[in-house]
Amino acid sequence: MTKYVIEGGYKLSGEVTISGAKNAAVAIIPAALLVDGTCRIENIPEIRDVTLMLDLLRDIGADVRLINRNCVEINASKIRTTRADYDMARMIRASYYLIGALLGRFGSAQVALPGGCNLGDRPIDQHTKAFKLLGANVDVQNGYVFAESVGRLTAAPIYFDVVSVGATMNAMLAAVLADGTTVIENAAKEPHIVDLANFLNSMGANVSGAGTDVIKVRGVKKIEGGTYAIIPDQIEAGTYMAAVTACGGEVLIKNIIPKHLDCITAKLVEMGAEITEYDDSVLVKRTGELQKTNIKTLPYPGFPTDMQPQATVILSVANGMSLVTEGVWDSRYRYVEELRRMGARIQVDGKTAVVEGVEGLCGAPVKACDLRAGAALVIAGLAASGTTEVEDISHIERGYEHIVEKLTAIGAHIYRAEVPDDAALSKAQ
Ligand code: EPU
Repeated sequence: MTKYVIEGGYKLSGEVTISGAKNAAVAIIPAALLVDGTCRIENIPEIRDVTLMLDLLRDIGADVRLINRNCVEINASKIRTTRADYDMARMIRASYYLIGALLGRFGSAQVALPGGCNLGDRPIDQHTKAFKLLGANVDVQNGYVFAESVGRLTAAPIYFDVVSVGATMNAMLAAVLADGTTVIENAAKEPHIVDLANFLNSMGANVSGAGTDVIKVRGVKKIEGGTYAIIPDQIEAGTYMAAVTACGGEVLIKNIIPKHLDCITAKLVEMGAEITEYDDSVLVKRTGELQKTNIKTLPYPGFPTDMQPQATVILSVANGMSLVTEGVWDSRYRYVEELRRMGARIQVDGKTAVVEGVEGLCGAPVKACDLRAGAALVIAGLAASGTTEVEDISHIERGYEHIVEKLTAIGAHIYRAEVPDDAALSKAQ
């Protein structure tokens, strides 16, 4: 077992460079299955979810070549099956994009129901509704989603009942090669939706309106190869901004699109951060005391749910009482129990957390229960007095490229420690 050991209480200073966006990469890599020819994808983050997605493509016969650790070339001309490996697919949420891409290109997909972070109920009814509206037969059997069409999919109007990132992207993937113009209404507007549309258009697709709540996909007969660079990760950038706000200090966060961070910047400023925006970087500084504020997570451009745990850590040591309301997921407060071990005073009632700021947190052994919860516990450890040990870090490494190295470079005292797991220990005894 590997854990992070953190000696807290140090201010952060220096520069950190943000990697490519996880949630864009895990949609754009399967989108390469729609491409007739080779496509080169640059700025992919070196994280476990991306590695798994590339393995899933390799496993069905795609030619996947890593040019370097952040660049890959994919050619899907020799796909041997449209059935994805069950165990691999259920390890990540984003494996559901294989359904849209395989169905759109080959008229058939068999993919396990997806896994991913445990955030409460995570249905995919809006995905399957979109595929059915486009003319596919969709069924769930033995843990697999089976989707099939006779010939090309046929364009249709799709109105989503809830704003869903995954369903919006999957509908786009399935509609790219469909016959006619698909209109997706009540679409999600996250930066990665726009990135997927830009990727598809750069390969010859005809997608307009991404970034608004109505997206039009005019079906084309084929899309061809090209080169595309993924946008910087909004949530990774927000996580480092939150770390500086929690610990104090001054850090330049580079390789970002400041506009994507507006919703995060506004709240961190309310909490006491000073943030200066440049063309492709932000300088985050915090010298004064932290202040309470209220937060409600919402689909973009609202405050992102994927920043809720990190923001709650800051509020747990701010002056006064804050209210945090989770507006996207049913259950995203499982990390609160771990934060309490560090001295946080937080009461959760359904979707609301009442956060009573304390003087300071103190280090403790804690467990990451999901990706962003893990990032939040790392921030808590950096801001706390004493030593924090974060276990189950595989969750964190699913989504943060070289987090230990990046934090160390800005003055954090954090290292990875190998510890024998219980099974190895009892064998040795
Ligand atoms: N929903 C439905 N039916 C569906 C799909 C979604 O009811 O068919 C509901 C969900 O239960 C949820 C809401 O709609 O209440 C939004 O879910 P969405 O589909 O937008 O989430 P997702 O696509 O499964 C992606 C990110 C998550 C991020 C959410 C919200 C990926 C791989 N995952 O999930 O990222 O929290 O959007 O922004 O892109 C993370 O990176 O840590 C992470 C969990």
